[in-house]
Amino acid sequence: MKLLEKYKLNSTIEMQNRIVMAPLTRCFATDELVPTQLMADYYEKRADAGLIITEATIVTKGGQGYPNTPGLFSKEQGDGWKLVTDKVHKRGGKIFAQLWHVGRVSHSIYLNGNAPVAPSAVLLAGRVPRAEDLEYPMPRALEISEIETIIQEFKQAAINAIEAGFDGVEIHGANGYLIDQFLHQHTNLRDDQYGGSVANRARFALQIIDETIKAIGSHRVGIRLSPAAYFNMEYVKGDEDTFDFLLEMINDKNMAYVHVGIFDDTASFDYLGGTVSEYIRSKYKGVLIASGGKTSEVAEQDLHLNKYDLVAIGRPFIANPDYVSRVRSNSSLVDYNESMLTSLV
Ligand code: FNR
Repeated sequence: MKLLEKYKLNSTIEMQNRIVMAPLTRCFATDELVPTQLMADYYEKRADAGLIITEATIVTKGGQGYPNTPGLFSKEQGDGWKLVTDKVHKRGGKIFAQLWHVGRVSHSIYLNGNAPVAPSAVLLAGRVPRAEDLEYPMPRALEISEIETIIQEFKQAAINAIEAGFDGVEIHGANGYLIDQFLHQHTNLRDDQYGGSVANRARFALQIIDETIKAIGSHRVGIRLSPAAYFNMEYVKGDEDTFDFLLEMINDKNMAYVHVGIFDDTASFDYLGGTVSEYIRSKYKGVLIASGGKTSEVAEQDLHLNKYDLVAIGRPFIANPDYVSRVRSNSSLVDYNESMLTSLV
């Protein structure tokens, strides 16, 4: 199977197969947001994936939006991640850290009583997961100097990731979190250099990409994007122009990959001219990781049709730590259900 063949991601990273473990938030870090031995065991069991992308990992305390999500901004957090990367590497695996700032998708309970920050003061309707009685509060628009600080925090987290033994980082630009909030018009009402035009809305993402590349090298930096507004976000006509621009700019940067952020990649969007993976494939020349409800059978066919280069598998990897060997032996899979999220196995 093409899916199980080795894949050279670039001149320095060779993957044992084309299966990527998608980033999956599990909320099992300590209260200091330090990865644990249990988390190292969890990732070790899945290390026969060609590439693991970790659960989203915050670059600063101000970027937290869920309980017990790990960080990469303290020495203890780096030491905790070292346990994980060592175990994955011992099994021949590769692992990228997904770098995250949730922006407005947060609550003062995570932020020492402060309001969440965002490009603009635009409320997210809804309730905070795992804190059901709380509604999301109105975020505060970031000052320019704070935006510059956050860009540096992404860069520093990338440096910390390499020190902790990661093979690279994935910038979390998807799913309605901070970077995505700059990219979409619904959440970006700014009229300074970070809003108002396509180039201005893309500026924050591009500055993070450029700073991170400068710090750790382009072959070690990937990005996840959600050109379709589908989660924590509303579509505004013309949003696709920002993604056209961003992907055009990224084309020359020789990054590790672009990763589709969508829960169901069979969904077609008129304004993208097809599915999210079809849209990105048509605009982006480099390595594409598809995701969103992919089965190994569909992925195998799609790889033969050159629709994308790698496939990320999410929920099935929670339910089946031995997902890759099940695909290899053509064994049936355990079905995922949400009750599996309460323990880390
Ligand atoms: C996710 N997803 C996700 N995405 C991301 O970029 N960072 C994250 O931390 C998480 N966390 C997360 C937790 C849980 C419990 C689920 C179910 C999903 C999205 C995930 O990476 C993937 O895109 C979707 O699950 C769709 O792929 P599957 O599950 O259909 O293969």
